Amino acid sequence: MPLVHGTELFQAARKGHYAIGAFNTNNLEWTRAILKGAQELGVPVLIQTSMGAAKYMGGYELCKQLIEATVKSMDITVPVVIHLDHGDFEAAKEAIAAGYNSVMFDGHDLPFDENVAKTKEIVALAHSKGISVEAEVGSIGGEEDGVVGEGELASVEEAKTLAATGIDFLAAGIGNIHGQYPANWKGLHFDRLQEIADAVDLPLVLHGGSGIPQDQVEKAISMGISKLNINTECQLAFAKATREYIEAGKDKQGKGYDPRKLLAPGTQAITDTFKEICGWMGTKQVKLVPVEL
Ligand code: 13P
Repeated sequence: MPLVHGTELFQAARKGHYAIGAFNTNNLEWTRAILKGAQELGVPVLIQTSMGAAKYMGGYELCKQLIEATVKSMDITVPVVIHLDHGDFEAAKEAIAAGYNSVMFDGHDLPFDENVAKTKEIVALAHSKGISVEAEVGSIGGEEDGVVGEGELASVEEAKTLAATGIDFLAAGIGNIHGQYPANWKGLHFDRLQEIADAVDLPLVLHGGSGIPQDQVEKAISMGISKLNINTECQLAFAKATREYIEAGKDKQGKGYDPRKLLAPGTQAITDTFKEICGWMGTKQVKLVPVEL
């Protein structure tokens, strides 16, 4: 089964100047849609659950088993990483215990020294099981599943300190936000991204990937972004396709109310969105699965 830890994949992406998509899942349809897109393109993928999505779905154990069983039942052969998105200390420990392949410990709301100390603890625990760790410096603006960030620009010194904890990839706040970007958004802070990329020898992560114009995504990847997080774009695509189905009265035709029919256009829209964004990221096909689990 092609479940892998993320580290080697992201190092290869950094060297090859492309990025790998980290897509949030919410349920079975989301999971299938993302895996289908990855398999059709032949690209590696990271499927992530936020703490909120994991709670909604029934906990980390269930999420891990659902994704693992879906990979198996769909005969997926591309590398898949099951990742925790924005976990607090307890969530990161729970996801590690449940067998996730990779976790993000997000201590941005803690005093920096405590963030560093807790990141070290998570790194020691995760690495003892071969699990990858992402940490965050600065913060991502906007709100995702109750995790609110004010959008603080990452400090280069803090980025270096956090990188020295032994993490495998680093998320940096560079003006990116979760959710939809406001019309007056000023764009990514490329100067700061360059400073961090020069100072830190790690694959970098760009959160808030939905709604960033393609040219800015491409420029960020050329500067060292190796993982692009996408959630809202798939939610919008799913909602639009489902709305169109209902507004066209299709749920009232025959058995159009059957969830297998009702949810099909939205599910396909997620796959289509996945493929479009992978094109922007230049995600490379992976022929050899690095250290299958
Ligand atoms: P979006 O809301 O822009 O899709 O961001 C997703 C994300 O960064 C998840 O951590």
